[in-house]
Amino acid sequence: APIKVTKICCIGAGYVGGPTCAVIALKCPHIKVTIVDLNQARVDAWNSPDFQLPIYEPGLDEVVRAARGRNLFFSTDVDKGIEEADLIFVSVNTPTKKSGVGAGFAADLNYVELATRRIATVANSSKIVVEKSTVPCRTAESMRTILEANSKPNCRFDILSNPEFLAEGTAIADLFKPDRVLIGSLQTQEGLDACAALAGVYGNWVPKDRILTVGLWSSELSKLAANAMLAQRISSINALSAICEATGANIDEVAHAVGYDSRIGPKFLKASVGFGGSCFQKDILNLVYLSESLHLPEVANYWRQVVDMNEYQKRRFSKRVVDTLFNTITGKRIAVLGFAFKADTGDTRESAAITLIKDFQSERAFVNIYDPQVPHDQIWADLAEASPLTPIDTIKKQVTICSSAMEACKNAEAVVIATEWKEFNEINWEEVYAHMNKPAFVFDGRLLVDEKKLTKIGFTVNTIGRPAQERV
Ligand code: UDX
Ligand code: UDX
Ligand code: ADP
Repeated sequence: APIKVTKICCIGAGYVGGPTCAVIALKCPHIKVTIVDLNQARVDAWNSPDFQLPIYEPGLDEVVRAARGRNLFFSTDVDKGIEEADLIFVSVNTPTKKSGVGAGFAADLNYVELATRRIATVANSSKIVVEKSTVPCRTAESMRTILEANSKPNCRFDILSNPEFLAEGTAIADLFKPDRVLIGSLQTQEGLDACAALAGVYGNWVPKDRILTVGLWSSELSKLAANAMLAQRISSINALSAICEATGANIDEVAHAVGYDSRIGPKFLKASVGFGGSCFQKDILNLVYLSESLHLPEVANYWRQVVDMNEYQKRRFSKRVVDTLFNTITGKRIAVLGFAFKADTGDTRESAAITLIKDFQSERAFVNIYDPQVPHDQIWADLAEASPLTPIDTIKKQVTICSSAMEACKNAEAVVIATEWKEFNEINWEEVYAHMNKPAFVFDGRLLVDEKKLTKIGFTVNTIGRPAQERV
């Protein structure tokens, strides 16, 4: 008989586990979903009476409001969650290793391993264990070995890989209507049965033809491949943006024309100051590390170039700011609008803004920062981490965090747009102009503002992928 899932536990209440399992609970009222995490503050936030959730994601609080207390629970009792469940998602963090073998490249699998070992120790009945965190190829195999070596008699563990493709800022929309759900399993009868059980969960709201079932390793590699190819598109368009700036071509026009080719398609061709986020760089570096350990140095170099181009794009942009401001920004005030790695999220992991601000700091400029979502503590933590040798008090003498765009732009020489928040387009630019030092510059790293309009007001506008617009 097909395995029926009635209780799900998700280990890890972060950006992936939280929204994913909240949506499963919403769509499957007959399944009890418990999301567990060791971080008490995070769990408390998920449980907060006024729904001050630990992550900002449009539509998320409606989902949690509908399901929490009904069949969705958040808890720090990891062991109880494991024990009760027949299916367990492992959705813990897998940061890039900071030391040891593969430092700077390989994924730190310590959290995955600890969670896996906990499952083996606690479980008194058979479980389907689903790897949800993005992990290097063959991690499922290691999980299986650990589980089998530590299991009690009469407990069997079936491992599935079920990578999550949601993007931050659109997580709920992506989860409601995914392009595809990918499930990898061993091609044994038990593996296929476990796969069918998980497919049955998604089948409550995802059309059958969008649920793809493949081998375990194909599933793991597909996730790395999808992110690497998405990032590669951005590095490709950003490389072309440098040619545009030098020649007078316009990157928007080029992207539009290229994207019309149905083989290429129009999405994900927006030039920018560089991609950020917790996934792209990490997953490409994983792929580089994997290629190297498989003795495929040419393949490793090919993918490494995508990250190198992204670093170049960020440096190129901050250099353009310095060059344009008459080759020095020392003592000048620069307003940076946006700190999140993209709009509609409060997440700052690998945000291009961090690199830009660090560059401005080392040129000894004063920096004003405004972001509509990122908590101030987070900004300070990121800046401190980016400059580990600089005491925070020194950073605070150079950097001011502001509570509006208008405040950030006051008395600045230049405005730098680092994140494509819609509200930056709705700023009263006449008023901004009136309060800035002249000549007033705008550097648009996100192809966001109306260049003509701003030029008319009096700004000198520099947009990524376009030659500078002198004021007329
Ligand atoms: C190409 C462009 O497609 C066309 O738009 C342009 O005007 C001229 O260059 P063409 O060279 O005729 O056209 O062939 P195309 O079908 O693009 O294939 C080029 C090469 O890529 C072939 O060797 C083909 O076998 C190979 N290819 C194509 C792959 O290896 N994999 C693919 O998925 C697609
Ligand atoms: C990404 C993948 O899209 C998602 O499928 C995967 O599950 C996790 O990684 P995410 O990191 O949330 O999602 O954001 P995404 O929208 O992909 O943007 C990543 C970065 O690329 C952002 O900094 C964004 O601003 C930048 N970007 C995106 C561009 O510069 N240009 C584009 O055209 C698209
Ligand atoms: P992601 O973006 O992959 O979701 P996050 O860092 O946002 O990553 O979330 C991962 C969560 O997993 C964190 O809240 C962390 O506290 C939690 N976590 C890590 N290891 C364990 C563990 N062994 N047991 C329970 N929770 C864990």
